[in-house]
Amino acid sequence: MNRFEGRVAFVTGAAHGIGAAVVRRLSAEGAAVVLADVDTAAAEETVAALATVARERALVVPCDLTDRASVEAAMESAVARHGRLDAVVNVAGGALPHPDQLDGGTDDDWAATVDLNLAGPARVVRAAAPHLARPGGAVVLVGSVNGLAAFGGDAYSAAKAGLVVLAKNLAVRLGRDGVRVNVVAPGTVRTRVWDDQGGPDRLAPMYPLGRVGEPEDIAAAVAFLASDDATWITGVTLPVEGGVLAGPLAAFARLADGPERSGIS
Ligand SMILES: NC(=O)c1ccc[n+]([C@@H]2O[C@H](COP(=O)([O-])OP(=O)(O)OC[C@H]3O[C@@H](n4cnc5c(N)ncnc54)[C@H](O)[C@@H]3O)[C@@H](O)[C@H]2O)c1
Repeated sequence: MNRFEGRVAFVTGAAHGIGAAVVRRLSAEGAAVVLADVDTAAAEETVAALATVARERALVVPCDLTDRASVEAAMESAVARHGRLDAVVNVAGGALPHPDQLDGGTDDDWAATVDLNLAGPARVVRAAAPHLARPGGAVVLVGSVNGLAAFGGDAYSAAKAGLVVLAKNLAVRLGRDGVRVNVVAPGTVRTRVWDDQGGPDRLAPMYPLGRVGEPEDIAAAVAFLASDDATWITGVTLPVEGGVLAGPLAAFARLADGPERSGIS
């Protein structure tokens, strides 16, 4: 597929994990990708691993989601290089290592997590909006199943939940210009964030499909929503989560080593 031939995509959090997979996917489908990240050295490594044509089209820009001037400068660099902007994918974010409010987390902890995971993506869209193709521009925000049900982490989950309604409001505001805004909400994905917790696979029994996600699973959904295949889809949150939101039966059956029809009622 070459759904992004001739198009420009701006991807935050592009240096590692899910963001790097989004870069690989959009590049493979023809996009010129701008990699925006605080970790520019790792972003350069992501670029170095791309095929030659994609590598020559790629641009790494420093970008800190928590700093409005940094986000705006990154966007200006992207537009200055390519003269157009078709897709914006906000992947940067993540849980910060602080306790929940009820366990002693401070107001500053809460503010930092919400700033990174909710205000940050809003900053990215604000900076991108004047430049996005009209019609045809697309924004995809990476949320989390934590924003859709209780999986722990109060500030992180509340911030990710905020993206759901942020996207609806932005979809209405930008829809009249033919710009779409959607959210992809991943379940557990195999990235470095699980390294200090013994890896993600111990969570696989919760998943009806029997495994955790790979970054490429999320990148495929992001590419769909950013492409013209989703041209009449806006304001939605697409869970990409191996069925974990279907309910607790998979975990119950596997943990109890019982038949999948087992229940507790
Ligand atoms: N891995 C999972 O299980 C999982 C599940 C659900 C949602 N998510 C979400 O997916 C996104 C990516 O997660 P990941 O697992 O790939 O993490 P990761 O740590 O591998 O990648 C995050 C990227 O964001 C960048 N980044 C961090 N802070 C930044 C900032 N202030 N400004 C700009 N860039 C910044 C990092 O340098 C890194 O490249 C996050 O928003 C996360 O909340 C991850």
